[in-house]
Amino acid sequence: MANLPQKVRVVEVGPRDGLQNEKQPVATDVKIEFIERLAAAGLSTIETTSFVSPKWIPQLADAEEVMRGLRRRRGVTYPVLVPNEKGMRRALAAGADEVAVFTAASETFNRKNINASVDESLDRFQPIAELAQEHGLRMRGYVSCVMGCPYEGAVEISKVADVAGKLAAMGCYEISLGDTIGVGTPTAARTMLEAVALRVPMEQLAVHFHDTRGQALANIFACLEAGVSVVDASVSGLGGCPYAGGATGNVATEDLVYMLSGLDIETGVSLQELLDAGAYISMALGRQPASKLGRIPRE
Ligand code: HMG
Ligand code: MG
Repeated sequence: MANLPQKVRVVEVGPRDGLQNEKQPVATDVKIEFIERLAAAGLSTIETTSFVSPKWIPQLADAEEVMRGLRRRRGVTYPVLVPNEKGMRRALAAGADEVAVFTAASETFNRKNINASVDESLDRFQPIAELAQEHGLRMRGYVSCVMGCPYEGAVEISKVADVAGKLAAMGCYEISLGDTIGVGTPTAARTMLEAVALRVPMEQLAVHFHDTRGQALANIFACLEAGVSVVDASVSGLGGCPYAGGATGNVATEDLVYMLSGLDIETGVSLQELLDAGAYISMALGRQPASKLGRIPRE
């Protein structure tokens, strides 16, 4: 019998990773309703928006309005992405309760995504870490391109472990390992995770698989067996990074929750309400849900 966790914390990234990749503008009140539906479905961590440059990600230029309009639910955390001190100050002013910094295991991707080398980005996170500590906010860290880079191809596992270790040393309570372009396969994913866990305890690691090649659930299963218990996902399979050519959505939260429930792993998420949230945002975007479950006709 596989060695699997009893509980998994699902980190919903749809409102951020999902919507950042949508070209058509999504109204602020639709975003708010979407986030509130996700919270009602029982998700305890919902990445809400990004305080990045509106020139780089115009879709999330309404970050302040989203935070202002949101009715927050007790017990739910609403992390936001911040790339630099300016973003952190905006996030603090908007009353964020958690922030996430993001860098990569690939120099070229990082330059295209945040216009900085990996070391420069880590330097930029230092004032964010200090402000987070001063204001009592938790800080999460992302490492992108952990299974490969759209520009450089193969990425060294030692680089992933090194960057993850530096983020943890800077005070990130959790490091999310991002297969940004969905190139990973299960054994490789597990090998990468186990190597990083030699630097950062497994309890502090999360996995973030984009499903570009249909490998995400298999990769997640392999990583659950290796001991991870925090998994990022995006309802309706939304997502992708505009600065990672060819990247498509994250693993769909509905499909993930279905698999976890079949494995008797607790998530606290109501699949029906999650499907409703997926249908809601898909309708707003004018398309069918991209999750497998969302495509099964319902009574
Ligand atoms: P830059 O152009 O080098 O920034 O961009 P700069 O410091 O030179 O500033 C240029 C202008 O932007 C200035 O304004 C700044 O004030 C403004 P101007 O004087 O020209 O009017 N600016 C800002 N405005 C608002 N908020 C800010 C901010 N910072 C500067 N925070 C920068 C550098 C980091 C800002 C930019 O590259 C950026 O915002 N990048 C974000 C890209 C992004 O969000 N990518 C997607 C998220 S990452 C992802 O999806 C991967 C993940 O899911 C994991 C995975 O899948 O692997 C997390
Ligand atoms: Mg992502």
